Amino acid sequence: MNSPELKWLSDTSVFEVNRLPAHSDHTYYATMEEARREEAMDWRYSLNGSWKFHYAANVESRPQSFYEMDTDCSGWDTIQVPGHIQLQGYGKPQYVNTMYPWDGISPVRPPEIPQDSNPVGSYVKTFTKPKKMKGQPLFISFQGVESALYVWLNGQFVGYSEDSFTPAEFDLTPFVTDGENKLAVEVYQRSTGSWLEDQDFWRFSGIFRDVYLYTMPEVHISDLKVRTELDESFETGVLHVDAETEADVHFILENRDGQVVAEGASPLTIKRPHLWSAESPYLYQLFIQVRNSSGELVEVIPQKVGFRRFEMKNKIMHLNGKRIVFKGVNRHEFNCRSGRAITKEDMIWDIKTMKQNNINAVRTSHYPNQTEWYNLCDEYGLYVIDEMNLETHGSWQKMGKVDTAWTIPGNKPEWQDIVLDRAKSMYERDKNHPSILIWSCGNESHAGEVILNISKYFKQQDPSRLVHYEGVFYDREYNATSDMESRMYAKPADIEEYLFSDPDKPYISCEYIHAMGNSLGGMYKYTDLEEKYPMYQGGFIWDFIDQALVKKDRFGQEFLAYGGDFDDRPTDYNFCGNGIVTSDRKLSPKMQEVKFLYQNIKLFPDQKGVLVKNDQLFEGTEAYELGWTILKNGLPQQGNVADVQLNPLSEQYISLDIPHFEEPGEYAIHASLCLKEKTIWAEAGHEVAFGQHIYTIEQKAAEPAGNVTVVEGDVIIGVHGDDFHVLFSKASGTLISLQYAGSEMIAAPPYPLFWRARTDNDKGNQFAFKSSGWYISSLVRKCTNVELTTGEHSAAIAFDYVLPISEAVQATVTYTVYGDGSVHVKNDYKGAGQLPDMPIHALSFKVPADYSQLDWYAMGPEENYEDRAKGARLCRFQNAASDNVSPYLVPQESGARTGVRFVKISNENKKGLAIHFINDPLTCTISPYTAFELENAAHHYELPPVHYTVVTVAGRQMGVGGDDSWGAPVHDEHRIHSENEMTFEFMVQPL
Ligand code: GAL
Ligand code: MG
Repeated sequence: MNSPELKWLSDTSVFEVNRLPAHSDHTYYATMEEARREEAMDWRYSLNGSWKFHYAANVESRPQSFYEMDTDCSGWDTIQVPGHIQLQGYGKPQYVNTMYPWDGISPVRPPEIPQDSNPVGSYVKTFTKPKKMKGQPLFISFQGVESALYVWLNGQFVGYSEDSFTPAEFDLTPFVTDGENKLAVEVYQRSTGSWLEDQDFWRFSGIFRDVYLYTMPEVHISDLKVRTELDESFETGVLHVDAETEADVHFILENRDGQVVAEGASPLTIKRPHLWSAESPYLYQLFIQVRNSSGELVEVIPQKVGFRRFEMKNKIMHLNGKRIVFKGVNRHEFNCRSGRAITKEDMIWDIKTMKQNNINAVRTSHYPNQTEWYNLCDEYGLYVIDEMNLETHGSWQKMGKVDTAWTIPGNKPEWQDIVLDRAKSMYERDKNHPSILIWSCGNESHAGEVILNISKYFKQQDPSRLVHYEGVFYDREYNATSDMESRMYAKPADIEEYLFSDPDKPYISCEYIHAMGNSLGGMYKYTDLEEKYPMYQGGFIWDFIDQALVKKDRFGQEFLAYGGDFDDRPTDYNFCGNGIVTSDRKLSPKMQEVKFLYQNIKLFPDQKGVLVKNDQLFEGTEAYELGWTILKNGLPQQGNVADVQLNPLSEQYISLDIPHFEEPGEYAIHASLCLKEKTIWAEAGHEVAFGQHIYTIEQKAAEPAGNVTVVEGDVIIGVHGDDFHVLFSKASGTLISLQYAGSEMIAAPPYPLFWRARTDNDKGNQFAFKSSGWYISSLVRKCTNVELTTGEHSAAIAFDYVLPISEAVQATVTYTVYGDGSVHVKNDYKGAGQLPDMPIHALSFKVPADYSQLDWYAMGPEENYEDRAKGARLCRFQNAASDNVSPYLVPQESGARTGVRFVKISNENKKGLAIHFINDPLTCTISPYTAFELENAAHHYELPPVHYTVVTVAGRQMGVGGDDSWGAPVHDEHRIHSENEMTFEFMVQPL
């Protein structure tokens, strides 16, 4: 097959032409010194940078002969490699989830591909063979090109390849000249590969990972397999190295301190090896010395080796003999400016963020990542499910329903080789990484013979790892494909049902707790299973990073765009934003919960000490210092540090000298475990575990001092005191003025609020369809009665309301004004049967935006909700109202704090008002925007200019939920059943 053909693009039997066999990703150097330094390889030459480029929207309009020597491309545009075509001014990115991107546009079925629209990028790069490579063979490596490429050198056809996420390498030796060489690459967005790459992500194309030329010494090990074996007692480690070569090879194994621990031929045996785990990612350094026939050293390969044993024992996955629990996350490679073309800096940010937040595992959803990622996982310590590049979701699932009319690959033999090729390319490249514990046969591709054979392939190649595939859920005939029961978005009760059924396989959630927008409510229900069921082995949050792209709005301001914002249709809009970090790499407030629930060490303080539970499998607690602080009403009083020495998998109660206070107040004992020393992933002092204990010494609140005078006008009831007044309007049916020292606090009067701006989860489960009566009842109400009661030192005005939702419901707000200017606000609600669940039971009003500084004593510091407050702590913290608009892609309810004891709302001069709880702590949301403004905005730029601070004080707000974002309700105990009676009270005081 030497002349390239277009029909390869739609031929399942052609997925590579002249591509070199896949091989391990090791590097190689000329000398030991260079191998030790592991810097950029001399035998590699990067072609990253500017390339000449031509874009054609379809096949017909491409410049057909551009690869020929006499076609001059010098006048073409330039494009950056690596990079996506659609992010550099050509065509447009398109975000779709399940459906194929050409759905409703082109009527094709596999393996045919759309004809009218198949963007073609023609790339040209000229190079002269690097001097260092003179006289040596020359190869080229494309680390990632989406989705199919044809390559020519100096006018001659070199080869063809599919699979966007594994390398395509070709031999250039026959075509290269000593002068200037013309490299031409034609990249098609659509190919048979596109049918296999229906991942839920932005649809791009182009050369988006590194490209380099390479050569090799006269004797070279092109493929290498390292395998470690450990005996039952982990006393002896045996390292097998398979390096297919006739040459004379010599192995040197060094420990982390550079001492030689074994040397000679394979296998190498060492005594009491340090084991590799995510907790302690100990890597040995292997050097493979290769000599030519005259005995000269010609090649040195530095290869990291981790001794570890991963296995299924008694139906439970074990690492180094211990039951493992994955505290995992799914991760797409993503950058908000460059899409899936990410840098090492991005990866380091990601891995540090994961380690800092107690995440111990990652699934490379849903394709093999850049090689560098696995190096980092080996080094930093993360367990990896390495997933091959296969997803055919749109071929069998339509709008959530299974419809297998044209499922691929199913049992269709014509798809076997093309799919197996992807498995091989991943396995061969990645096989030497100790961090990879599990191979995954792809995502959401239903089940059948083809994928079963993939699983068999992995098992044959690699008995030292297990195989994962979730899709057998849809066809149990192929259950054998997966070594573990893996599900996505199974609810806690479903998981328990499985675990109760005396199952054959351990359980993991390859995806769970869908972190779209304001979500992650109820995550604790999953992590609670860890202790209860040995066969529950954890899960992987969906997902790590939002996929949103920087774009400019009409006024030239950058914003984070989602599907549809590029006029891309069809699209699935903001469903691309499900991250626990934002696409511009900032922690979302959801991370607070993840970090806590994924703790490997748990702290349970009380008034005398702290129970420390070390759930780490291999490490003691030596690396950490235990600190405690006692706080009174949120302010630290005293604290100290203590030493803690616990073995792995053990617990101990540590007595501490916590002082006992007599004075009334609320006390919190915070215990935390912090790193003693800097590590590669965090600074010294970084907190890895936290626990708190709260207790109260009661005190009787004194009646506020001073007197009030009441002036009852025809319309207005005024309550006046020393330097303040409060006015109520019978016409408006509420409090209309609160003046402290001549400053008006009320910019919009308080009314009962029963609505929150819908979250993505609320939208997904159609909450509003049933509950919309609460929306209108928040916009309009009728005041049916106003009642004034004057006391000795106070005056109370009560407003009764009826609401559009039902005549049977009664809401009453009673304001009692005291002589010191404080206003006690009591909110009574009497429900009725047959009413839908209520989003929030609150009172909301506006103050001028000058009052936007907030000082809280509440659960915090980050946003929290009643089903997502485990990671929050009772503390004092400060922020601004604008900080409470969380950067979820679509504006929605955000920034709430539960457990509010008080919040002070002040201007620059520290004047303003404070809200204090009475009886039960409050849930407050203080934001520049009303629920309705948030509700109406599809982007943050649609929100109005800020004139107000909107103060929403709630007795309760329902949880945010998070089992999934397409129907799962908030768990019952975190919903507000509106047939009940409810009351909440608070005090407003001048500052
Ligand atoms: C899963 C899928 C993910 C993503 C998620 C929803 O079904 O595997 O790729 O689409 O749902 O955000
Ligand atoms: Mg999918």
